[in-house]
Amino acid sequence: MPRLLYGGDYNPEQWPEQVCAEDAELMRRARVNLATVGVFAWSKLEPAPGRYEFGWLDGVLDRLAGNGISAALATPTASPPPWFGLAHPEALPVTADGVRLSHGSRDTYCASAPAYREAALRIAAALAGRYRGHPALAMWHVHNEYSSACHCELAAEAFRGWLRARHGDLDRLNEAWSTAVWGQLYTDWAQILPPRATRYLPNPAQVLDFRRFTSDELLAAYTAQRDVLRAATPGVPVTTNFVLGGWVPVDHARWAREVDLVAIDHYPADPGAGAEEEAAFAADLARGWARHGTGRPGWLLMETAPNLIYAADRMHTKEPGRMARQGLAAVARGSLGVLFFQWRAPRGGAELFHSALVPHAGPDSRVYREAVALGEQLDRIAGTAEGAVRARVAVAYDEPSAWALQAPGLPSRRLDHLDEARHAHRALWRRGIVADVIGTLGALDAYAMIVLPGHYLMSDAQAEALRSWVAAGGHLVATFLSGVADEHGRVRTGGYPGALRDLLGVRVEEFHPLGPDDRAALTTGAAGELWSETVHLAGAEAVVCYAGGVLDGRPAVTRHAVGDGVAWYCSTRLSADDHGRLLGAVAASAGVGPELEGVPRGVEAVRRHAGDRSWLFLLNHTGTGHDVPAAGIDLLGGDVVAGVVRLAVGGAAVIRER
Ligand code: GLA
Repeated sequence: MPRLLYGGDYNPEQWPEQVCAEDAELMRRARVNLATVGVFAWSKLEPAPGRYEFGWLDGVLDRLAGNGISAALATPTASPPPWFGLAHPEALPVTADGVRLSHGSRDTYCASAPAYREAALRIAAALAGRYRGHPALAMWHVHNEYSSACHCELAAEAFRGWLRARHGDLDRLNEAWSTAVWGQLYTDWAQILPPRATRYLPNPAQVLDFRRFTSDELLAAYTAQRDVLRAATPGVPVTTNFVLGGWVPVDHARWAREVDLVAIDHYPADPGAGAEEEAAFAADLARGWARHGTGRPGWLLMETAPNLIYAADRMHTKEPGRMARQGLAAVARGSLGVLFFQWRAPRGGAELFHSALVPHAGPDSRVYREAVALGEQLDRIAGTAEGAVRARVAVAYDEPSAWALQAPGLPSRRLDHLDEARHAHRALWRRGIVADVIGTLGALDAYAMIVLPGHYLMSDAQAEALRSWVAAGGHLVATFLSGVADEHGRVRTGGYPGALRDLLGVRVEEFHPLGPDDRAALTTGAAGELWSETVHLAGAEAVVCYAGGVLDGRPAVTRHAVGDGVAWYCSTRLSADDHGRLLGAVAASAGVGPELEGVPRGVEAVRRHAGDRSWLFLLNHTGTGHDVPAAGIDLLGGDVVAGVVRLAVGGAAVIRER
């Protein structure tokens, strides 16, 4: 019997026994089936070096098992105990400014410090030894949001080792880093440092390699723990929670190959529909990481906020029903369940007002009642766990490209690959076209259409993979700055965008970055923003031109037929609606339409498929009711749907289709 996972982070170590007893009862009532335990519990599990206190955790796991609830058991290594930093000061992280951080928060460790790595493996092995075979143990949750970059001497030594492996010798490193600029030629490996506080602009290639190194160094810390856990408990899946954006500085597409299940934390904070668009992007990205990493499209929403969520200067409250709808939206896009941060709101600590399924008000509350209702809903749609989303469109999001575009010294400070990827995804989302967001440009055959939104870095191999895919019938849409630099961030000369020039059939001679209030008028009547350029046709045809200004009459959007496929280029940023029209037209010519025709904007429609069975998820994010075409059985309401289903304001339906 398939099931969807439901629950969240659970911190019984913060509470007395009678509260924990009530937790078990409340979890059962809400049909919680998975609790993530022990995430930050290192100081409670090992209060002094080598002295373990597992009794309390034995009790927690036994009680969970006794109530039919599984555990995602964490290794607590994101938060070393205070004694650790005092015993091993060299294992505390150092910032780029040379400040060594102290305990007092969390995430204070240097992943290159042997003392940290050894202590982390010891506690992971002790947990694995103790709980191997425990009936509650369903999953290992290694660490939490790996995120600590360190610039200390130990990190410097490890960085040099990593650079040797990547570049082989100093000549190649000097070449890749363009060290002839500003006299940075390295003649001995010992001269190379992590990027540290320096006089003026740092070398962007050094910064980029350091970010890649940090990602790999943290990944090595993860895989070392994973291997210990796998050896002790073969068959128990091992994962760690990924996060999108700058908070976690790792290349998730690489990491996805090393986890048994892609799990993400996601906290969309927009009070309006922006949150739904953002959540859909994160979900489609998690699915892309999973599909190309673990080889299976299923992924897990490991953390999200039930209610109050930090926005810019205050927290805002999710309106009634939104928690469940957002949870169902994650399942619609392939999540294997819905887990929240967190089960019970704490009385103190740094995040004391962060929301929880059991809020400070207690179970006699709207949020807990909604949690109970969501538990019932997830039970009713448990069968969907077998289904997978099928997407024929992909949006590429490459974390190293995002890092490279954050370098100072680029033609505009407002370039942001993540923004561009989200912009393209939003344009598709608003048209109801389901896309995977992919972090690698390999295995493209599943897709009829690929969008490259400012994919700045491009290796020869990636460009070649795209070329063969287009020639075989693929429809590519590349936007400005894609393919401009090689994998080291060096510009490819002879005209932009070097790596893709032939494929796109254009040659870009000059950039014309736009200011925040500038617009580049286009022959369609629309206007571009952020960016414009001098585009020459070199095989492609102009579809839209600039109108007025220095670029008057020059190509803005082009189309190039290549073999059985087509490569489009868009040299400016179109509004979401205009971009949607372009992407929608390309998708249609690639034979891809919206998931469901006749769906009003703001209503999300996505299917999960298993063989010839399918489940249609319909989510009404608008402020009005809508009739939507569908046929089958609505698993949430229990009704037979013969042609049209009525979605209430904020309502949802999950149709088991005929
Ligand atoms: C992250 C962390 C949690 C918690 C939440 C709060 O995702 O993993 O420990 O800090 O954010 O937003």
